[in-house]
Amino acid sequence: MNLEQFPKKVRIVEVGARDGLQNEKSVIDTADKVEFIKKLADAGHQSIEVTSFVRPDRIAQMSDAKELFPLVKKIIDPDKTQLICLVPNLKGLELASELGVKDVAVFTATSDSFNLKNINATVSQSFDRIEPVIEKALASGMRVRGYVSTAFGCPYEGAMDPRKAGLVAQRLDQMGCHEISIGDTIGTGTPYSVHKVLDEVLKSVSQEKVALHFHDTRGMAVANVMAGLERGIAHYDSSAGGLGGCPYAKGATGNVGTEDLIYLFHTFGIDCGVDLDKQCVSSLYMLEKLEKYTTSKFLQAYLNGKMKIYMPSPKDF
Ligand code: HMG
Ligand code: MG
Repeated sequence: MNLEQFPKKVRIVEVGARDGLQNEKSVIDTADKVEFIKKLADAGHQSIEVTSFVRPDRIAQMSDAKELFPLVKKIIDPDKTQLICLVPNLKGLELASELGVKDVAVFTATSDSFNLKNINATVSQSFDRIEPVIEKALASGMRVRGYVSTAFGCPYEGAMDPRKAGLVAQRLDQMGCHEISIGDTIGTGTPYSVHKVLDEVLKSVSQEKVALHFHDTRGMAVANVMAGLERGIAHYDSSAGGLGGCPYAKGATGNVGTEDLIYLFHTFGIDCGVDLDKQCVSSLYMLEKLEKYTTSKFLQAYLNGKMKIYMPSPKDF
């Protein structure tokens, strides 16, 4: 392991309020979402996915986006903290810009089958739809993040050729996304395939623009983040308590738990700017509302141990 390659500082994109909740059946009150996001910001998060402006009949949990964003904006300054909202098309962008959203995320995938179910467009059609969204967003001074879903595997097509992730990432980069998040939508990625996908993506997208988004369906997510660190990647999406999933990827479980990542980064002496104790409190706040137990291993230990958190760091060895 060449620690020299590791970034000294990383940024977490906390996706708990969007990816974390979008697949949950019990609808959470808007006020509870606001409080959750406030707690996450208080924990130190600088990048928080707030919601998505998608069809409410497709993702019911996000149907309060128009009410939620202004309430969040009242307590968190979008010029200081990235408050990211997903926009699938021009209609979504219009709604977001009316509310003063500064950070939007567009999303597509490497797989036509997944994309058709998720956004009613093939990969190629999705580029035609996304291009004007990015153009308009950039023209109005917004920042645009781009997602490449099913980069490792598709729920309908199986294993995906890493070259597809490379090509989709390249296209999003050329269109003007400031960051490209490579998504393991169904959690089939492994450290080996992370290296293979990064080999392709990094051919055209510069390292500092790449983010990694792992779902932990097969328990590989933390190992996959390690592979990302080995390649110098400094941006990681994760979700409070490990919540998450996509209604169009049945059986896929939550994102890697933010607590697990904060712990991992700390053990390498990598600064991520988020307070672990406050993160646990934020995650438990939402898990209680959902009446769910956490899949985050660190949070499980925190709950079971009732002990002072022991955080090993490089100076202990
Ligand atoms: P469509 O049916 O192709 O849209 O949906 P359309 O343009 O044909 O319009 C149909 C109707 O929807 C119209 O209403 C539009 O106004 C309305 P009508 O005139 O019939 O009454 N409509 C909208 N309403 C509100 N907001 C909008 C909007 N657009 C159209 N933005 C669309 C296309 C993409 C909108 C739809 O398929 C959709 O909303 N899909 C939901 C996708 C989604 O949110 N998936 C989860 C997020 S992606 C993910 O989780 C993966 C990620 O985490 C990374 C990873 O893990 O890999 C990011
Ligand atoms: Mg996801």
